[in-house]
Amino acid sequence: LPADLYGPSRKNSAGTELGHEESLDALLREIAAAGAFPDAAPLIDGKPQPGSAREVRSPIDGKPLGTVIEADAATAGRAMAAAAKGFRAWSETPARIRAAALRKAADLMEARRGLLIALLQAEAGKTIDDAISEVREAVDFCRYYAAQAEAHFAAPLSLPGPTGEENRLVLRGRGAFVCIAPWNFPLAIFAGQVVAALVAGNSVVAKPAPQTPLIAALAIRILHEAGVPVTALHLVPGGTEPGAALVAHPDVAGVAFTGSTATARGINRALAAKDGPIVPLIAETGGLNAMIVDATALPEQVSDDVVMSAFRSAGQRCSALRLLAVQDDVADKMIEMIEGATRELKLGDPRLLDTHIGPVIDAAARQRLDAHIAAMQAQGRVAWAGQTPDLGGTYVAPHIVRLDKVGDLAAEHFGPILHVVRWKAGELDKVIDAIDATGYGLTLGVHSRIEATVERVVERLSTGNVYVNRNIIGAVVGVQPFGGHGLSGTGPKAGGPHYLARFATEQTVTVNT
Ligand code: SER
Repeated sequence: LPADLYGPSRKNSAGTELGHEESLDALLREIAAAGAFPDAAPLIDGKPQPGSAREVRSPIDGKPLGTVIEADAATAGRAMAAAAKGFRAWSETPARIRAAALRKAADLMEARRGLLIALLQAEAGKTIDDAISEVREAVDFCRYYAAQAEAHFAAPLSLPGPTGEENRLVLRGRGAFVCIAPWNFPLAIFAGQVVAALVAGNSVVAKPAPQTPLIAALAIRILHEAGVPVTALHLVPGGTEPGAALVAHPDVAGVAFTGSTATARGINRALAAKDGPIVPLIAETGGLNAMIVDATALPEQVSDDVVMSAFRSAGQRCSALRLLAVQDDVADKMIEMIEGATRELKLGDPRLLDTHIGPVIDAAARQRLDAHIAAMQAQGRVAWAGQTPDLGGTYVAPHIVRLDKVGDLAAEHFGPILHVVRWKAGELDKVIDAIDATGYGLTLGVHSRIEATVERVVERLSTGNVYVNRNIIGAVVGVQPFGGHGLSGTGPKAGGPHYLARFATEQTVTVNT
């Protein structure tokens, strides 16, 4: 294997030091010079298709940003048929050329980071540091999967055999892949799924979330400019109608989906109900992510990590902390510190540099979160409530909610709401069992200075990403491969060494020489 595939010489993209005046000025100039946002329309073989037009509005202030033409079921079906037709030529394109297109796309994303960041802020309500991280993650996915494809798809793997026999294992694309992305990482997860499927030799129909079609259209444009043929990559904006049509189409060879557990189940059922080949689903879904804190943990560190994990990105990460389980002996002190730190967070327009928390994605999300907060208030469980500014957008202030036990948190609330439970010395196993019983397994935090405690938690919970004595968000490509089990998804982990293989077929060839 090439030395830079997994080793320390492999490099992710460079960050931007916002405390460094020149770097910050350069970035702000690029954002200011970003220019007009692209509109979005279904794209089949590179040609825009008709559909129903809808205005895309910003969650920051409700202002219009552009227009999306949404596809109906018939257009989705034509996109699938075109992808099936485009598959052969792309799959026979050498893996090193497919990888080169991803590397070029990464370079183009870096060159256009001003526009990408401006759009991530306007369309998805991202703060500047979240938007920077997201562009970096998309760039890193492109380069990481390019390197993986060069290592594993460019030449067959030679296998041993008796004298007079040659054996080899060949990885190839499966066919026309459907990639369905969420709005919370509308560039990184959207592009990550698409480039993984492409570089493994599949053609792709990409369906972005209805909330974030413009950034998706820009990403597709960049991939086409980078050398991905228009016959291999098609775009289908819209909601459940085109989504269901894509999944039900007879030509579907695989589905990569990130979103809710309920939608993943629906896709699984639709795929299972079809005649023809058995179609694999790669699903990354939600989490009831917990952090276990014992009496030996460092309070200041816990406070920083809890606030970052629960409230950064307005709690709209699938990795975000939903449930803090803190040992009774230190709970009052910890909660007081967390409340103090939360009070300092500035909620508002994410384009302002001193904003920590921007809006939630849309009015429906705000209503769901407000309803949960109201229910908790009615039960007298709200321990701390932030103030929501009246800025015309869809804002939800951070809230801290007290629960009696882990099992009281029945559903994932996708926003800045932290639930807290207390446990008594000697009850650690009970807490672990209760977290396990939720059935989710995406991220988990442990704060303790006792090695045996950390080991017990890590061993007993098979959660996908475990973070010890730090925050639980912001998995880095190739460093913290990301994804969970059970109700949290099927694996394999995005940004990890086993991801691409799931997008491929394996062929063993044995030759009697
Ligand atoms: N990959 C993101 C993170 O680790 C979550 O979706 O925060």
